[in-house]
Amino acid sequence: MSSLILPTDFQSGEDFALAMDERDPLQEFRARFLFPKTSGGDCVYLCGHSLGLQPKTAAAYIEEELQEWARLGVEGHFRAKNPWMPYHRLLSERTAELVGAKPLEVVVMNSLTVNLHLMMVSFYRPTPARHKIVVERGAFPSDQYAVKSQIQFHGFDPVASLIELTPRTDESCLRDEDIESLIERAGDEIALITLGGVNYSTGQAFDMARITRAGHERGCVVGFDLAHAAGNLPLRLHDWGPDFAVWCSYKYLNGGPGCVAGCFVHERHAESWDLPRFAGWWGHDEQSRFEMGPNFHAMAGAEGWQLSNPSIISLAALRASMEIFQDAGMERLREKSVSLTGYLEFLLDKQKSPGFSIITPGEKERRGAQLSIRIRQGGRALCDRLAQEGIVGDWREPDILRVAPVPLYNTYHDVFRFVRRFAAALS
Ligand SMILES: Cc1ncc(COP(=O)(O)O)c(C=O)c1O
Repeated sequence: MSSLILPTDFQSGEDFALAMDERDPLQEFRARFLFPKTSGGDCVYLCGHSLGLQPKTAAAYIEEELQEWARLGVEGHFRAKNPWMPYHRLLSERTAELVGAKPLEVVVMNSLTVNLHLMMVSFYRPTPARHKIVVERGAFPSDQYAVKSQIQFHGFDPVASLIELTPRTDESCLRDEDIESLIERAGDEIALITLGGVNYSTGQAFDMARITRAGHERGCVVGFDLAHAAGNLPLRLHDWGPDFAVWCSYKYLNGGPGCVAGCFVHERHAESWDLPRFAGWWGHDEQSRFEMGPNFHAMAGAEGWQLSNPSIISLAALRASMEIFQDAGMERLREKSVSLTGYLEFLLDKQKSPGFSIITPGEKERRGAQLSIRIRQGGRALCDRLAQEGIVGDWREPDILRVAPVPLYNTYHDVFRFVRRFAAALS
């Protein structure tokens, strides 16, 4: 799509938006989701970076497991149409494909912050000489809490052991070359580099291949929080080579509130039995799991980090969404996303208002679907007013309105309507 419509070809009239929707090869996918309603009909939902919409098929997937539970009780673990014991594997291939990994390297389990901790238990191995963790200063608070608490857990002090990457004065986003030079400079002391694939606040996408390369060259472990990248950007985790990655499934992946999260452990660690890890029975070798022996033997690959048996109801909802991803294809979604976000930027730029600025990078390689708009004054009230009018983005203190046109279910006309309302509310 973007190969047909270059940013210079965008036009500002409503007829252009409608015509773009007409020729959108992914237009059928919108009808596969449920939209919150306002008095005027469907809302303009630009909040997939926070909570994705419900696939219409999710209820049937869940209902199927409820029926199996009613019919079989405990036997459902082995005799359900899709037995619950290996149920999470129904997601392995699609998840692997989505993040560019091998099935052995991924597992759906727990929630994001839990998985981040589990990964740090194994991959943050501080020594007196090499104990530092690199994060973005503006990292999501849960990541900051997790990282600081891991540093303290190991008997170090976050004041000395945390390196926060900070944008240059008067800039909102980090520069790749600054990240790289920090790694080069302080590499000997860095135990772990853990950044978001896409920053939750600015919408900046990081060059994960480059960061991983730079980190590994200096002997650091590298991991990513892909909460805002999974289902948003095409990923090639296996080739890029980070040691681990974690993500949630309720944003671009539309798995529903609190949905089971994802975890990637690179193949090179698949049989690293000497890595310390927190163990639970679901990570134990499945051939002997029900022998109930006292000693833990981890499964190979990411599955060896599982603790508990997962919520089948939650996995069922995620299956519904992953099927849609499979049908749409990440490459096609990304193509539409680049165009749709470019169109949003084009319409916002046309406003030429000093009341706001876009802080997300302008280059398509440095962002996904989200644009973060800094509002000079009264942003919170503006966001509330838009919500009352059925335009759903979200507000992040102190001054950021985040909006994400999601290629699976948003249209050019959604973007047009948002900008028209936004401009009116601003003035
Ligand atoms: C970047 C990022 N990290 C971590 C989290 C926390 O996720 P969870 O509550 O699933 O642990 C979020 C939640 O929005 C997030 O956006």
